[in-house]
Amino acid sequence: MRTQVAIIGGGPSGLMLGRLLEQAGVDAVIIERKSPDYVLGRIRAGVLEQGTIDLLDAAGVGARMHEEGLIHTGVDLAFDGEMLNINFDKLIGKHVMVYGQTEVTRDLMAARQRTGSKTIYEADDVAIHDFDGARPRVTFTKDGVSHMLECDVIAGCDGYHGVCRASVPENAVTTFERVYPFGWLGVLVEQPPVAEELIYAHHARGFALCSMRSNTRSRYYVQVPGDEDVKNWSDERFWDELRARLNPAIAEALKTGPSIEKSVAPLRSFVAEPLRFGSLFLAGDAAHIVPPTGAKGLNLAMSDVKALAEALIERFLEGSAAGVDSYSPTVLQRIWKAERFSWWMTSLLHTFPETGNFGRRIQRAEFDYLGGSVAAQQSLAENYVGLP
Ligand code: APR
Ligand code: PHB
Repeated sequence: MRTQVAIIGGGPSGLMLGRLLEQAGVDAVIIERKSPDYVLGRIRAGVLEQGTIDLLDAAGVGARMHEEGLIHTGVDLAFDGEMLNINFDKLIGKHVMVYGQTEVTRDLMAARQRTGSKTIYEADDVAIHDFDGARPRVTFTKDGVSHMLECDVIAGCDGYHGVCRASVPENAVTTFERVYPFGWLGVLVEQPPVAEELIYAHHARGFALCSMRSNTRSRYYVQVPGDEDVKNWSDERFWDELRARLNPAIAEALKTGPSIEKSVAPLRSFVAEPLRFGSLFLAGDAAHIVPPTGAKGLNLAMSDVKALAEALIERFLEGSAAGVDSYSPTVLQRIWKAERFSWWMTSLLHTFPETGNFGRRIQRAEFDYLGGSVAAQQSLAENYVGLP
């Protein structure tokens, strides 16, 4: 087997890269370790920046998003129940779209199926070879049979735990990491959202988030210790804890029900540098992780992949290496902006046991500063709605 671009990983990054290359006539094969159903079973965030909306449109997969997605012109922040509305539309004339990452993935998968592009699912023992040499290639087994895929470029879109970054010699890559001492316990429920806007709430008991997937399906989170076992959380305990962290009127309005999904996700900030090693390029969660507080993960992945697709198209269609040479420094600038914003949102909204009552007062002062400063609100809006 031979292709121009071997894409490792069939999450949103790999699928979008495959789609953009296919549109330009660059040949690519996706190799994914899991089954399509498994990939679609992961529940993740669902806030799309304008740049992501535009990219889905350009990729010809935006129709259902426009039909079913919810336009949001702002978010609410809360501190010990006190509410602060951040109106993106009034502040900077922009909005975001609430549309689940699972649905983005589903739409990209459907497009790939329509065009018959090659995706190898349930590939075992995926390994990448000679990306610093003349014969880059990928080996894997499928149904017990060994295969080799020769290629010009390997795109590492295989997430944080993938094989691509792990295959780079240790002395060739620098990693920057902060693991937060807590996670998010999330519940998906078939009930209308409690409020029109997403609510990001700081409370002495810990952070809480009220989000949604549609007008009839909601997603809620509470901050829990990092090693928390989901088994300790009955639905009843979850709803009680969520209510305790919300403004009383909001808590009163909350519509609860049996959870459809319940899981704990750790919070981490992580960046690898550089993102190119010969003919291997990293994109999406393989390159970086942001804590979900700023809703940046998917958006950052999409902007990596847009830049990578443009660079590869330039290389294969125009024979120019300029784009591939500047890929890593260019995308890292944006990545660090998103890291800063996600870290800031996380720092403001969570409780940090180690910083004590001084830390909580500083967070309160930061919240009050935000409430009193249009410039600070504009900065939040600009970062949330879409990094430049
Ligand atoms: N071989 C093949 N595929 C692999 C391997 C491997 N060794 N290791 C992991 N994968 C697959 C995973 O099964 C997964 O489907 O790579 C895919 C990576 O997908 P994601 O983890 O969703 O990462 P990405 O596509 O970059 O999407 C980024 O995910 O975590 C969120 O916030 C993040 O929204 C952002 C998005
Ligand atoms: C979600 O709906 O799952 C969600 C929304 C916003 C975030 C994180 C998660 O910042």
